[in-house]
Amino acid sequence: MKILVLNGPNLNLLGKREPAIYGNLSLEEINNNLSVLAAELRVDISFQQSNHEGDLIDLLHHAVGEVDGVIFNPGAFTHYSYALRDAVAAVGIPTIEVHLSNIYAREDFRRHSVVAPVAAGQISGLGANSYLLALRALVELMPCWRK
Ligand code: DQA
Repeated sequence: MKILVLNGPNLNLLGKREPAIYGNLSLEEINNNLSVLAAELRVDISFQQSNHEGDLIDLLHHAVGEVDGVIFNPGAFTHYSYALRDAVAAVGIPTIEVHLSNIYAREDFRRHSVVAPVAAGQISGLGANSYLLALRALVELMPCWRK
């Protein structure tokens, strides 16, 4: 089983960016924690981050046939990118949308996700654990895909 962890805009700044909201861990540290859990769960994991909508769409397209599941934090694109939503729907790879912060407890514009309706599920508000729980969820959804 192969999983792609895809992070959108500004998530490369984790650790330095508004730590009261997004926590103190860098994206590299979050990815390292995911690698440890992936090894434990016996899944292959890869990581991509982009600040550009089109690049995220290309990465989703290129994931077809390469990965069995995607953990996706679309950042602010969550709230308005129909193009990313369409890409998630088009590729048909089971995708879990994740957010470090609880988007439903924040500004009005963050309380709506255009991606969620085409995702397998959403995990929001559990900090860096949102990613780890998403990995566990994908593995539990697809136990037969383990190596
Ligand atoms: C975020 C929430 C978004 O509203 C925000 O634009 C982000 C991060 C989160 O992980 O909590 O960039 O996706």
